[in-house]
Amino acid sequence: MESNGIIRIDDENFEFPIIEGTEQEKALDLRTLRAKTGFVAFDEGYGNTGSCESAITFINGEKGILRHRGYPIEQLAEHSNFVETAYLIINGELPTAASLNAFEGNVLRSGTLNANMISLFKGFNTSAHPMAMLSSIVNALGTYNAQYATNVRKIDLEHFDTAATLLMSKVRSIAALSYRMKVGLPLDIESDSSKFYTEDFLTMMFSKPEIEYEDTCGAAKALDLFFLLHADHEQNCSTSTVRMVASSGANLFASISAGISALWGPSHGGANMAVIEMLESIHASGDDGSRFIEAAKSGKAKLMGFGHRVYKNYDPRAKILGKSAIKVLEKIGVNDPLLDIASRLEKAALEDDYFVSRKLYPNVDFYSGIILKAIGIPVEFFTVMFAIGRIPGWMANWKEIAKNSKSRIHRPRQIYTGSNERNFVKLEKRG
Ligand code: SDX
Repeated sequence: MESNGIIRIDDENFEFPIIEGTEQEKALDLRTLRAKTGFVAFDEGYGNTGSCESAITFINGEKGILRHRGYPIEQLAEHSNFVETAYLIINGELPTAASLNAFEGNVLRSGTLNANMISLFKGFNTSAHPMAMLSSIVNALGTYNAQYATNVRKIDLEHFDTAATLLMSKVRSIAALSYRMKVGLPLDIESDSSKFYTEDFLTMMFSKPEIEYEDTCGAAKALDLFFLLHADHEQNCSTSTVRMVASSGANLFASISAGISALWGPSHGGANMAVIEMLESIHASGDDGSRFIEAAKSGKAKLMGFGHRVYKNYDPRAKILGKSAIKVLEKIGVNDPLLDIASRLEKAALEDDYFVSRKLYPNVDFYSGIILKAIGIPVEFFTVMFAIGRIPGWMANWKEIAKNSKSRIHRPRQIYTGSNERNFVKLEKRG
């Protein structure tokens, strides 16, 4: 039996259907709100607004639950890998051996960039931020594969699988060449399809002429887990951006390029860089973390890597990354003081009423920077690593909109706070 919610305005009741999700989350269907009442809903930051129905990822922020297509992140982190989880997120089911082999083969075979694309990197200053390079060159990738980026929804959807494997593969090469351009290494590197996804990426990124990169510290395994844990996360800022752009009919490459730009911000994917910068400044100042906690409580600083719009419990990814950070550092035999500072900050914050009352817990970014730093990723590339991990989730959300024939262009309303009507005064009369 369909149940309704009632909104009462002045002395009139307005009924709206109640929608219930697979996990019993409930929503008021307000798609007729303005037509029925003349009112719009105001929800700056969309903290109370569902922008879509999606079957990809489920988060229960109160319980710290994260599942991709129904599979708990803890099980995927323990038993799966990034390419297999990417297949699951994009296609909705775990692959068979044959379908995984085909998908992985297509992804691994598409890694090398053609010569024309390599010239794009030479157009950037060595000081260019790699996220700006990634966003620009991903959009440019669509021009080199224009047959998959036509902005004709039917055509782009028909070619989705080819475009998706191509983009998932080449995003590594774009990141690797951005790094090589910035540090002055030759750009004529090729992807080696006999290597696993992440191992091939690290080789493309760090190999020097005559000296091939050698993974001596389990970096590929740690980075693969990092990518897996970042693969999708419901309607976060960057994924909502991908859906916003996709809703206009824009192709996969243009939509993902926009998502990369949204991820760059320090409140979102840029936080993993900000965490390391925060920990390094605390370490350099000789503070044991207690002064910084006080600064955060008084609003003079933000404890980067803490807090989340949805998680009001421990981010399950942070738990897994915290353990991975310890394992990676043990394997390398490094005693990173930043890990001790991070653990002290976490312990202090989890006992302090300021953070407890606001339900502020470590999020995915709190420990990830320590792992990336330990395996040799430069801080400036931390958010690029997040972007590589998030590609499957962004693509799955693009596909979900593209396949939904009822999806409408995203066009929110506003509350106008500007001037009321007034007449134009010519320049000579303005005094
Ligand atoms: C990601 O959405 C996703 O799913 C994102 C993500 C994903 O996988 O895509 O999980 C990845 O972006 C993780 C978040 C990374 N960002 C950071 O770590 C930056 C630090 N965190 C904050 O900027 C903040 O917690 C946000 C942006 C993450 C969430 O912001 P909200 O939901 O808008 O919360 P808010 O800013 O309204 O804060 C509520 C209160 C405020 O205090 P009061 O006004 O009540 O006094 O909590 C305080 C805030 O000042 N607060 C913090 C804090 N985060 C919130 N105080 C100190 N340090 C912090 N980190």
